[in-house]
Amino acid sequence: MVDLFIVGGGPGGYVAAERAGQAGLSVVLAEKNQLGGVCLNEGCIPSKALLNSAKMLSGARDAKAFGLSIPQSSIEQVAVIKRKNMIVKKLVAGVKSKMDSSGVRVINDQARILGRRDGYLLIEARGERIEARNLIIATGSEAIIPPIPGIEEGLAQGHVLTSKEILDLETVPKNLTVIGGGVVGLEMAAYYKEAGSQVTVIEMLDRIGGNIDLDLSHLLLKALEKKGIRFVLSARVSGVRKNRVEYLLNNEEGYVDSDMVLLSVGRRPVIEGFGLDKLGVFTESGRIVTDEKCLTNLPGVYAIGDVNGKSMLAHTASREGEVAVLSILGKPITMRYQGIPNVIYTEPEAAGVGLTEQEAEHEGLPYLTVTIPMAFSGRYMAETNRQPGMCKLVIDATHRRLLGCHLAGLYSSEIITTAGIFVDQELTIDEIKNLVFPHPTVAEIIREAVYQVDQVDRK
Ligand code: NAI
Repeated sequence: MVDLFIVGGGPGGYVAAERAGQAGLSVVLAEKNQLGGVCLNEGCIPSKALLNSAKMLSGARDAKAFGLSIPQSSIEQVAVIKRKNMIVKKLVAGVKSKMDSSGVRVINDQARILGRRDGYLLIEARGERIEARNLIIATGSEAIIPPIPGIEEGLAQGHVLTSKEILDLETVPKNLTVIGGGVVGLEMAAYYKEAGSQVTVIEMLDRIGGNIDLDLSHLLLKALEKKGIRFVLSARVSGVRKNRVEYLLNNEEGYVDSDMVLLSVGRRPVIEGFGLDKLGVFTESGRIVTDEKCLTNLPGVYAIGDVNGKSMLAHTASREGEVAVLSILGKPITMRYQGIPNVIYTEPEAAGVGLTEQEAEHEGLPYLTVTIPMAFSGRYMAETNRQPGMCKLVIDATHRRLLGCHLAGLYSSEIITTAGIFVDQELTIDEIKNLVFPHPTVAEIIREAVYQVDQVDRK
């Protein structure tokens, strides 16, 4: 009998395991692949390793502007992948040692839920039956494979790739077509463009980046187009025939030929294949339904991370894991989603937190916005070569609270945490004015924007 059984060792599952182990609970975690899940093995971390090589390459190409002479620069793809693999290996080993030091027992196998016996949850893994008082389901998500003619064949033949295989390509394709201009599509388009591919992104919507603020989406589109990425927007892919991707745009047929195709049209929660049906956990639209404590409809059964479909970000999964464990420990805690940032690690980076202008409008809130270019930041000017960037604030016009912040440009991925805290803590513009930021930092751009609010008000 254990206090807690966790299915899935990604950033949701392993963080929950670590916190529970540290709190003195007896914990078993089952992971059928590598600890670290998609994020660490084939998602967030490996893509950042690749993108940093691209960033350095783009810096080297821009060397002259910074008074440097770097005569030649190019990507050695095999070395980039090797470095990525080494980083992943080290981090996976790090997670393993965290599990050990927190007293978590890891079973490297697929877990199967058998049901509830005498009030306890019964799970099987590697031929062993384990009784548990509590269960956390952290099975994550998988790439959506849409029923587009030719996709399955392309995947089988190897010229259509998902976000997993694209991170292991040992040669840079001459041409790459990306289906889906969301986070994965944009990050991989940015990397392969810098590495030397001709890249075309085909996106169904009239915008890129999913639900990010429209101004941010426009800036990113312009910046990526300037780098040479071709975008076909408002186009629905209708078929993949060998190396040809066919699409419909305004009812007219078009196509792109390329060596490789990346399929990045979203992910869906993994709710099958591990006996979820044995318990009677409620699901809705393919995701497990949870409350603000990440509890399902059943006592003692929690679902965290992508599998509950609420935010589908690694950092949300980790926090949900902590909240689930704190609930098991009897602490009165709930998830807060309003201050969770999202980031697209292209160059320029794009990051947002809280409400976009479109969401504020949709909710009928009285709001005002302030948008200033990153060029208002001394540090930004010192460290970039006219790279486009912006800082946009969405403010509650009645209470003067910061509702949202949307950034593009260098360090946005780091600065957004600051804005996230302001949004989470519901700080007002006047409270933020009282805070001092170190100078010179790009983060000062938020302070700069805050001081513009009253100028906007007076207009
Ligand atoms: P996504 O949902 O972000 O974007 C998919 C895009 O594909 C959408 O813009 C959609 O309109 C488009 N699309 C769908 N069907 C299409 C079709 N037939 N033809 C053309 N376009 C089509 O999904 P993505 O990029 O695959 O990412 C998956 C998940 O992974 C997301 O939940 C994302 O948040 C997460 N992720 C987060 C990262 C980060 O935080 N930096 C990095 C990578 C992934």
